[in-house]
Amino acid sequence: MPEFVRLTDVAPRDGLQNEPGVIATADKAELVRLLAASGVDEVEVTSFVSPKWVPQLADAEALLESLAADKPAVCCSVLVPNEKGMFRAMDLDERLGGSLIDKVAVFTAASETFSLKNTNATVSETIERFRPVLDAARDRDKRTRGYISCVVRCPCEGEVDPQRVGEVCSMLLEIGVDELDLGDTIGAGTPETITPVLLAAIEALNGRSTNDRGDPTLTLHLHDTYGNAAACVREALVLGVRSFDGAVSGLGGCPFASTDDKRAPGNISTEVLVRTIEEAGYETGVNRAKLAHAGAFAERIVAAARMSGGAP
Ligand code: HMG
Ligand code: MG
Repeated sequence: MPEFVRLTDVAPRDGLQNEPGVIATADKAELVRLLAASGVDEVEVTSFVSPKWVPQLADAEALLESLAADKPAVCCSVLVPNEKGMFRAMDLDERLGGSLIDKVAVFTAASETFSLKNTNATVSETIERFRPVLDAARDRDKRTRGYISCVVRCPCEGEVDPQRVGEVCSMLLEIGVDELDLGDTIGAGTPETITPVLLAAIEALNGRSTNDRGDPTLTLHLHDTYGNAAACVREALVLGVRSFDGAVSGLGGCPFASTDDKRAPGNISTEVLVRTIEEAGYETGVNRAKLAHAGAFAERIVAAARMSGGAP
């Protein structure tokens, strides 16, 4: 039996958060449903961040409400930056029966400047913000993920020391995240540069590849600016990583990693991820035709939003 690799599609969150045009909540819900039907293990549905910072995802409550009547058969996760976001997410989840949101993801960075730009807080301050978020998640038996952005390179500070990534991994583990997710936010990674980063994270985890729930402890979240993401996936598989994030059709990019003349790069496409992982001899459980269907739909709604222009 080939070994299984977990896939999370982050397109509804990372893929859409940077889109300036209007995308209807019903279309986002349909995208989540199509991704769930494709056989990916998790879908990152939306963010409970400040709507002033990320207007596209201001409909987080409405989107989850529209999914509640018939919960997609997939692990549904949401991004939460602080206690206020956690309160919004958990209040809604409770009103909807307590089992719509399966996982909560907090996010910090290996670069102080990026952390300030993305969350108006230093790395240490983000860690303090997460404590009550993780307590609330534990109380409700929600799984938790801790993202670290800029693990290879920061758009503001340049090269990032893998040792710093290891330190931030330890900070997140110390406050009790169930799993780590390493973000190559600007797609700078190569097999040579991603290796020491992964080794630093594996060391912080004391080599533990699954958590108490039996889920992988380490995920790689790649953006694909220079076409090196698939090679990084192959390298990560060799090092024992069994969980990856992608966005169908390669949508996406963090708005706070964009510059005035360049949009932040898209995520590695889930289609490329599936192909790369399966060609390396692992199983994903994804139906490629259904994934292509989700991808075509995602491209249509994004194209329509770009044509319509305007702020959401
Ligand atoms: P702040 O302005 O410092 O927040 O932002 P504050 O605590 O001072 O509050 C200011 C106002 O925001 C107040 O409202 C708060 O109530 C409100 P006012 O009194 O002015 O009306 N507020 C909120 N409203 C709704 N939901 C909330 C919330 N929190 C405060 N949760 C904050 C701090 C963290 C909120 C802000 O910086 C923020 O929302 N940042 C999110 C940025 C973001 O979403 N970035 C993209 C996701 S990360 C990413 O893409 C990287 C990743 O993909 C991995 C990779 O690729 O590297 C994960
Ligand atoms: Mg990202």
